[in-house]
This record gives sequence, C-alpha cells and structure tokens, in this order.
Amino acid sequence: MNTLRAKLAMLIAGVIISMVGVLTAVLVYVLRPPDTRQAIGPLADQVQLLVEIARTAPSLVSIQQKPAGGDVEADVTSWLRETLEAREAPRDVLVSRKNSRDPPLLSIPVDQGWLIAQITDLPPPSGVYNLILMWLALIAFGAIAIALFFSNRMVKPLVLFERAIESVGSDALLPELAIKGPAEVRVAAKAINSLSYRLKMAMESRMRLVAAAGHDLRTPITRMRLRAEFVENDDDRAMWLKDIDELGQIADSAILLVQEDSGKSVAEALRLDILVSELVGELQTLSYDITLTLSAVAIVRANRTSLNRAFRNLIINAATHGKRARVTVESTSSVAQVVIEDDGPGIPPDMIGHVFEPFFRAHPARTKHIDGAGLGLTIAHEIVQRAGGAITIENGPLRGLLQIVKLPIDQTPGSGRG
Ligand SMILES: Nc1ncnc2c1ncn2[C@@H]1O[C@H](COP(=O)(O)OP(=O)(O)OP(=O)(O)O)[C@@H](O)[C@H]1O
Ligand SMILES: [Mg+2]
Repeated sequence: MNTLRAKLAMLIAGVIISMVGVLTAVLVYVLRPPDTRQAIGPLADQVQLLVEIARTAPSLVSIQQKPAGGDVEADVTSWLRETLEAREAPRDVLVSRKNSRDPPLLSIPVDQGWLIAQITDLPPPSGVYNLILMWLALIAFGAIAIALFFSNRMVKPLVLFERAIESVGSDALLPELAIKGPAEVRVAAKAINSLSYRLKMAMESRMRLVAAAGHDLRTPITRMRLRAEFVENDDDRAMWLKDIDELGQIADSAILLVQEDSGKSVAEALRLDILVSELVGELQTLSYDITLTLSAVAIVRANRTSLNRAFRNLIINAATHGKRARVTVESTSSVAQVVIEDDGPGIPPDMIGHVFEPFFRAHPARTKHIDGAGLGLTIAHEIVQRAGGAITIENGPLRGLLQIVKLPIDQTPGSGRG
C-alpha cells in the first residue's frame, strides 16, 4: 500500500466520497421529510369529518362489513387513536397497508359497519434511507474506479523510469527515455537522457585511451625486446625478456578488453560442451593440470572466439593460481552451467567483491611468479555478460576457488551444432 499509486488513488477516492457524503447529508437535512406525527392532526380531522358524513348523509359514503385488512401500521394507528381520545372523540380506527407499494388504508368503525378511506402515504416513504445508502455505495465504487484509472495514468511515467533503469545493459547505459507525460516527468526524462549520453561519451573516451595506450606501447616494447637480445649476461637477458613479455601481454589484454567492451562481436549458436572440451584438450597439451569430469550437451548463443577466450582465462586461472582445475558442463532446459574448481588458496573473502575490477590481484607477492596482466577476469566477465549470462566466483567449502558460469540455452529452433 506504500506506493505513490495507492496514495494517489486513496486521495482521489477520499476526496470524491467525502464531498458526495457531505453534500448528501446537507441535502437530506434540507429536504428532510416532515415527521409522521405532524400528519396525525389532519388525519384525525379527516376521521371526524367522515364520521360526521356517515351519520348525517350515509348515502354519500360506502360502508363495508369488515375493516380494510392487510398489515396494521401499529405506530400510526395508536397515535391516531391517542389524538382522537384527546379530542374526546375516541374511536378504534385502524391504519393498515395491503402491500408496501399501495397507499395505506384508513378503517373507521361507524354505526352501520366500517368506513374505508384511502389516505396519502405518510412520510417518510419506507426505504428512502436504504436508497441513499445504495447511492453512496455506487458513488464510492465509481470514485474508486476513477481514482485507480487516474492514479495509474499519473504514475505511468514513473514506472517507465523504473523499467528503463532496470533495463540498464551490461554496457551500463540507459536506453533512451521517451520525452512525454507531465512537465516534471519530461524534464526528468530529458535530464536522464543527457546524463546517459555524457556517461557513454566518457566511457568511450576512456576506452579509446586504453586502446591507444595498449597500441602505442607495442612499438617501444618491440624495440626493447630487440635491445634486450643484446644483453650479454644470460640471466640478465632472460629477466629482461620475461618482463618485456609481460608488458606485451598487458598491452594485448588492454586492447582485447576494449574490443570486447565495444561489443562488435557477432553471436552464433554453438555447442558449449564441445567448445569447453576442445579448450581443455588444448590446454592439457600445454601441460596445464586440467580434468573435464562431466560434460552435458548444451547449445548457447555467443561469439565463439570471445567465449573461448573467457573460458580460457577462467580455466587457466584455476590451473595456475589454483594449481589444478576440474571442469564440469551441466545443462537444464533453460540454463547451461560450467563449474571450474581448483585446489588453490582461493581469494580472501574481503577481496572477493573486487575480482572483476581491472588489474585486480589477490596475492600480489604470489602472482609475481605467474605472468598476467590482471585483466583475465575482467575480460571473461565482460564476454559472459554480453552473451546474457553471469559469472559467480566464491571460495570452495574446503579450499580452492569455485568459478560458476551460467549461460542461457539458445532457444532458436534448429539452432546450430559443433
Ligand atoms: N582460481 C584462482 N585462485 C586464486 N586466485 C585467483 C584465481 N583466479 C584469479 N585469482 C586472483 O585474481 C587475480 C585476477 O585474475 P585475472 O585472471 O583477472 O588476472 P591474472 O590471472 O593475474 O592475469 P591475466 O590478465 O593474464 O589473466 C589474480 O591475479 C589472482 O590473484
Ligand atoms: Mg588470469
């Protein structure tokens, strides 16, 4: 109930219902029907007049043997008898009604029998208050319907904002919002669009910078490598060459990251299980300690080269930082899941939230022995997100790291193999 929509609906319905309620109460008060007792005096006059006519000119009235019958109106009958008694003309008159739609009948006992006369309905007519209650109930329903309709319309632009923000893509960009609705909403939509545009520009320029730096580093790195070949001491030369190789790797990874981020790669339907098993086979020949323990058929939609790179990064991490890797490929009707486990030290819990940040290193001292740019996980994360999937990284129950990649199964009919 604590939503703007509910509050607006309550406000509109409350205003309508209370206005109509107050107006109806005023109307009922102003047009209030006269008290029934006030009509008793003239009724007693009528009784006395009729009795007089029956006595002096009986031919003018019709006399019957029995009273009119129907349900006796007890209150009116007793008030009328009291009034006649007070006038010292007591008479056992009866006011009765055959049914609620017909007017009441007055039965007056006279010498020859019963004199029956129709009288006008005594106010207030029965059921008038029920009618008013029904009228109020109808208005309440109408007011609630109107209130819901208008509050929905008023809140709609805000719901569109909410949806737009929810749909922020893996590139962290907002889809363009439509400029429509009330003035305030249009202004907010314009501001969000311009913020989104400026963010996009800033991100693109940052990415261009990274790519340019990576690219421009290649030439001096090549020159350094040539010069290093002339270092005379063998150990010194090996160290120089190793450092220069690492620099080259960092430059290449930076360029790769920008390529993935620009999202230009084309997706195709492919067999995830085959891709992973071929990759494992290839890495085994490069002497990495990797086993594929389970492999179920799974078809996903992604760019083959990119996805291969993502799994290569994750599996090599497990085989290097985590000593040895165990890989499984499982699949349900909607999700394919690749789990990569290892026997390494895992990642300290206070750092695990930062693993996808560029240049993250959990153990700077240890990783000195393992070449790497610190971009492998960032690139893998980017690729898997682009393919509509997600990576979770957590420490195993006993030791090692658990890297879980989930990708949606490709639902396109007749999607590819291999
Ligand atoms: N399986 C793992 N076990 C323990 N630590 C890990 C594991 N995988 C990654 N890490 C930690 O996360 C850091 C970042 O990994 P990432 O793959 O991004 O970079 P890298 O492996 O150092 O270099 P590269 O860019 O060449 O992959 C690693 O340096 C390592 O400290
Ligand atoms: Mg790595």
